[in-house]
Amino acid sequence: MVCLGNICRSPLAEGILQFKADTSKIQVDSAGMESYHVGELPDERSIQVAEENLVDITNQRARKFQLTDFDDYNIIYAMDKFVYKKIIEKAPSNEAKEKVKLILNEVFSDENLDVPDPYYDSIFAFRNVYKMLDEACDSILQNLK
Ligand code: 4NP
Repeated sequence: MVCLGNICRSPLAEGILQFKADTSKIQVDSAGMESYHVGELPDERSIQVAEENLVDITNQRARKFQLTDFDDYNIIYAMDKFVYKKIIEKAPSNEAKEKVKLILNEVFSDENLDVPDPYYDSIFAFRNVYKMLDEACDSILQNLK
C-alpha cells in the first residue's frame, strides 16, 4: 500500500487489509514515495478513524518505498495516479511495472480513480478515505479468491 507520506492513506489501507485478511497467507505493508515523515506514527486523524472501526494502526511507522519492495511483494497498490506514476518511474523492469495497480480499480475497474489526499482536510475527509479503502480491501480479498 503506497501513498506520498505513509502517514494518512496507506497506513489505513495496511491496517484495514491486515484486519480483514488471513495474515498467515497474505503479507501486507505500506510505504510512502516521500521521506518527510519517515519514522513517524500515522497521522492522529488516521489513528482516530481506524480506532472508530476497531482497527489499531499505532504499531506502524512511516517508511519510504524501496526498490526491494518490487521483489518482496506481488502486488503494489498506489493510492492515486500521481503515486502510481512515481512508482512506475522507479520500476526496474516490465515485470515490476505489472505489479503496480491503482487501489480503487479493484472496486471501479479501469476508472483510474484516486483516493483523495486528506492531509490538509478535516476528519470527515479521513472518514471518507476509510470508507473507500474499506470497500477496496473487501474487493481485493474477493478478487484474490
Ligand atoms: P499521505 O498524505 O500521502 O496519504 O500519507 C500526506 C501526508 C503528508 C504530506 C502529503 C500527503 N505532506 O506533504 O507532508
